[in-house]
Amino acid sequence: MRIETFRYTERLGAVLLRDIQKIIELDSGIDIQENDEARGVCKVSEATIHEMQRKMVIVIPIRNEKIRLFENCISGVPHECLKIIVSNSDTEPINRFELEKETLQQFCEFSKRRAIIVHQKNPIISKALQEAGYVDLLDEEGIVRDGKAEGMIIGILLTKLLNKEYLGFIDADNYFPGTVLEYARAYAAGLYMAKYEQCMVRILWRYKPKIHEQGLYFKRWGRVSEITNRCLNSLISYVSGFETDVIKTGNAGEHAMALSLAEALPYASGYAIEPQELLSLFEEYGDIPHLGTHKNGFKGIEILQIETRNPHLHENKGQEHINKMLVSSLGSIYHSDVCPEETKNLILEELQRQGLLKLGDEPPRPKLISAPQTVDFEKFANIVGDNLDKFLIR
Ligand code: GDP
Ligand code: CO
Repeated sequence: MRIETFRYTERLGAVLLRDIQKIIELDSGIDIQENDEARGVCKVSEATIHEMQRKMVIVIPIRNEKIRLFENCISGVPHECLKIIVSNSDTEPINRFELEKETLQQFCEFSKRRAIIVHQKNPIISKALQEAGYVDLLDEEGIVRDGKAEGMIIGILLTKLLNKEYLGFIDADNYFPGTVLEYARAYAAGLYMAKYEQCMVRILWRYKPKIHEQGLYFKRWGRVSEITNRCLNSLISYVSGFETDVIKTGNAGEHAMALSLAEALPYASGYAIEPQELLSLFEEYGDIPHLGTHKNGFKGIEILQIETRNPHLHENKGQEHINKMLVSSLGSIYHSDVCPEETKNLILEELQRQGLLKLGDEPPRPKLISAPQTVDFEKFANIVGDNLDKFLIR
């Protein structure tokens, strides 16, 4: 695979934000020499990509998606990546979770792979989280709450249990298996290119096709992501005093991390999780004067943003879903300790303009979830480890 090397980096304390890197060539052939590349180009060999993928888990959060889309999705995940599916699908009146399991089982049989599938409300998982003291994920009855973030965090804990080094998230509602393959390759290449151990790769889709009267229109920016990015950039600009547009992946559901970073991050519930990852980094390692925090002694934490070649086409979940997403994304920025007044005003104006917030109101504060490393992992591992067979498909 050939990718542009990073040229421009924005720094906020220990957090390094790399500007967009485009994929030049999806498959760069079998030659392994990597020293005579054109300027600005990085070649990551097939062997390296596969080596990285062998150390990587792909976590697929899923809730009531069309089973055909789920099947598409798993068929696109490269063979070397271990798949962990965390589902919150209905079990009645139709047991959709069983359908997912059956589909995965058949896939694993024909592809000679193992995989993990677990329901987010499984009592074993809830008990393990209770024992570990991870109350942030649980409701009043001690069961894991609904929410994509909750599923993703279970995926992080399982990645640690299975001793993998990296994990990447891929949504289950993707129409093109080829995109899934491209994401997993970009994750591998990006995490390999990163200079620091604690690193993250966030995906920017080349286009998001929409159907217009004249036919297909390849839209560059999603509406929510365009606004989330603008607000995150405003935040960085006012904190640093230098205007920037470096953030282009504020809502990136498709992203991958070194486990060491995934464990250290505080998260937010539901759809606020993706912008919150960046905010948590700024809060803890951004060297923000009034917070006085830079916890890791300025070892770098690196964020790469990679632009794919394939357009992204997923399920259209309607205007209400988009509004919910926008309000929770901007709510997480608004309530962050690093958010300056100027950015807060921008957020209020935007939400009022769209009729999503009344004058004088504030967007809701997201529910924060403490970092996985703050809980008693041994206890989680003991309980889930003893029951792993129940979740394993072979
Ligand atoms: P969008 O693509 O960002 O607009 O959001 P989606 O609604 O498509 O959600 C992204 C992924 O998370 C999809 O694969 C969903 O099926 C999945 N998802 C949504 N809610 C939940 C949940 O409560 N638990 C789990 N495990 N996954 C969820
Ligand atoms: Co989607």
